[in-house]
Amino acid sequence: MPRELTQNRIQKIWVPTKDDKRRGTGAPHFANPPTVIVMVGLPARGKTYISKKLTRYLNWIGIPTKVFNVGEYRREAVKNYSSYDFFKPDNESALKIRQQCALAALRDVKSYLKDEGGQVAVFDATNTTRDRRDLILKFGTENEFKIFFIESVCEDPSVIASNIMEVKVSCPDYKDCNKTEAMMDFQKRIECYRTSYQPLDPDQYDRDHSFIKVIDVGRRFLVNRIQDHIQSKIVYYLMNIHVQPRTIYLCRHGESKDNLEGRLGGDSGLSQRGRQFSAALARFVDEQQLKDLKVWTSQLCRSIQTAEHLGVPYEQWKALNEIDAGLCEEMTYDEVKEKFPEEFALRDEDKYYYRYPAGESYQDLVQRVEPVIMELERQENVLVVCHQAVMRCLLAYFLDKSADEMPYLKCPLHTVLKLTPVAYGCKVESISLNVEAVNTHRDRPEVSRHPTRPPAEGRCCRGVLQSDGSSLSSHRK
Ligand code: SIN
Repeated sequence: MPRELTQNRIQKIWVPTKDDKRRGTGAPHFANPPTVIVMVGLPARGKTYISKKLTRYLNWIGIPTKVFNVGEYRREAVKNYSSYDFFKPDNESALKIRQQCALAALRDVKSYLKDEGGQVAVFDATNTTRDRRDLILKFGTENEFKIFFIESVCEDPSVIASNIMEVKVSCPDYKDCNKTEAMMDFQKRIECYRTSYQPLDPDQYDRDHSFIKVIDVGRRFLVNRIQDHIQSKIVYYLMNIHVQPRTIYLCRHGESKDNLEGRLGGDSGLSQRGRQFSAALARFVDEQQLKDLKVWTSQLCRSIQTAEHLGVPYEQWKALNEIDAGLCEEMTYDEVKEKFPEEFALRDEDKYYYRYPAGESYQDLVQRVEPVIMELERQENVLVVCHQAVMRCLLAYFLDKSADEMPYLKCPLHTVLKLTPVAYGCKVESISLNVEAVNTHRDRPEVSRHPTRPPAEGRCCRGVLQSDGSSLSSHRK
């Protein structure tokens, strides 16, 4: 590689030039004021589910986001929950505590957005009265935060009952109750809120506010006054997710001829063991007895050959192609180390942000596979036959892994990861199909043992060398 190119790339990581600052480098840079997402709705309407899921997505696309759940502040303030009496509208002392908890959470929202590098805070509480929402709007104006409401409206008794059963009866408030008692208490708690509930009013009172109403778990939506790119992304995301039970299977292609030689990228076909894996994968898929399984591959030979053995239709996605190693394509790690020692070292410093010369970084890859995630959210059962770096990106989304962890997630060849949504997260089972393969995983080297840390102040901090020699680059969590 020409010397100037290497120099320039090192400079971009360690010492941004005036030019770099003008053009911007790889780490997130936010010119927009921060946003507070304010959840609205009666208890058991999926507000916490939406808060957590949306937060996971925003962090994954590189927007530092955190949930502030007022119920957790209340549990900290009142250690022993007795009954729904606490939520009665005429319980003056409890009302005071609840107000204090909401204010404490807002104080933390402010610190997060002003001092800790946060870009979006999700204020997860019922916020069912105009008084409460007006207080939050005032807080937004005083601090120059944008306010975006997400209201979840649902009156289907079966949805509400299953929400309560799935997440509420097992919450710490009911640790000393049986399920029936917990269910009854929670239903009465909902009634305490119902008397004072003032839904968002798109025609009069709230006509100038930015919000989305999610009606009947995504059957319908009402969207009002979207102010910016983040809000439109949030709306798009909420319109794509669903809560139907389903399973997502992730695996890599069978072992390839390039894998046998330890070569990066390329487009070789399967080795003999790779072909054995694809036969084993076909048997595995049969055993799962799934009704409509969709199969997705990349456009690379090894992924297509793996899916061919399944004997079912499959869809090829260019977006699922392996990370582009640019000038390092088809080299072994030893060859890269020998030919481009500085590049090799740079990648070890910060594998997420490192971009191969004339190729891609993990950060680039997240952008590229975002449409795949969006489509996965829309679908039910899907098997994705992809590649190591791409699988790490997808897995990081489902398992809420940080940018720092993503490039080191273990995704061995000939192993299927079975992902099943549960309550607020995702259960993962790792199933080896017992066909030997080379190990292509490279552990995190000593040099980057200090995880990428969030910037101490501001939201764009790439290229600062800390006193201990580690790099301080913008972090996504
Ligand atoms: C709670 O205390 O559990 C919820 C607080 C609220 O948002 O009303």
